[in-house]
Amino acid sequence: MTVNQRKPMIIGHRGAAGEAPENTLASFALAAEQGAEGIELDIHISKDGEIVVCHDPTLDRTTNGSGLICEHNWQDIRQLDAGAWFADNYRGERVPLLREVFEMLPKGFLVNVEVKYSYEGRQEQALLAYLRESGRMEDVVISSFDHQCIRRLKLAEPDVKVGLLYAANLFDHAAYARQADIDIFSLHPYYQTIAASDVKGAATAGLATYPYTVNQEEDFARLTEAGVSGIITDYPGRLRDFLEGIQ
Ligand code: G3P
Ligand code: MG
Repeated sequence: MTVNQRKPMIIGHRGAAGEAPENTLASFALAAEQGAEGIELDIHISKDGEIVVCHDPTLDRTTNGSGLICEHNWQDIRQLDAGAWFADNYRGERVPLLREVFEMLPKGFLVNVEVKYSYEGRQEQALLAYLRESGRMEDVVISSFDHQCIRRLKLAEPDVKVGLLYAANLFDHAAYARQADIDIFSLHPYYQTIAASDVKGAATAGLATYPYTVNQEEDFARLTEAGVSGIITDYPGRLRDFLEGIQ
């Protein structure tokens, strides 16, 4: 296939979640090693207000702990093993704080922070405070399935880039974003809902398109041909190999 425009950015989903325990420093390091130019990660908030990187609101699936993250203090969460569930050679991996992920990555590396819940506004406040103080605002796109949360974030901090995350098969993706009263940076659609015409419409409206979670070569090909801005994948190395193989 021939690609007429810039190739899509490789964005590692929860790092390189297909090959390392999701949302751990090992997973983010592997994604970067495999050629990712960005990562996607998910956040929750601990009882004592720390921004914790984890997909689920509970600790049960991906650690040897249990219960809600928001009911544990960071001192307890940091003791847990977040790697052994995936493979024995990842035993000893920890649940990272958002700050630790940024400390590991160079400036300019894209971090797509997915906000799972608002936690009565505490998550938004903590996230914006961290981004302001760390100077990493430029490197971030915040996305969420909760579009009201995205709106609050953008109104509170006009400098932050925000994206709409959704699985719905919308009539018109760009039109949905355009009718918002805030400046949307990007669309993050479920990959099976997005057609080439939607990507074109988004680009015309000045919106980036980052479909998730794309793991098969036929979908890499279709979405690259459609001109998406980036592809969120569990296998950054697989996507890199595909992109290297095309003209
Ligand atoms: O941000 C894209 C994707 O991560 C959304 O779904 O459940 O994998 O967080 P999920
Ligand atoms: Mg996510």
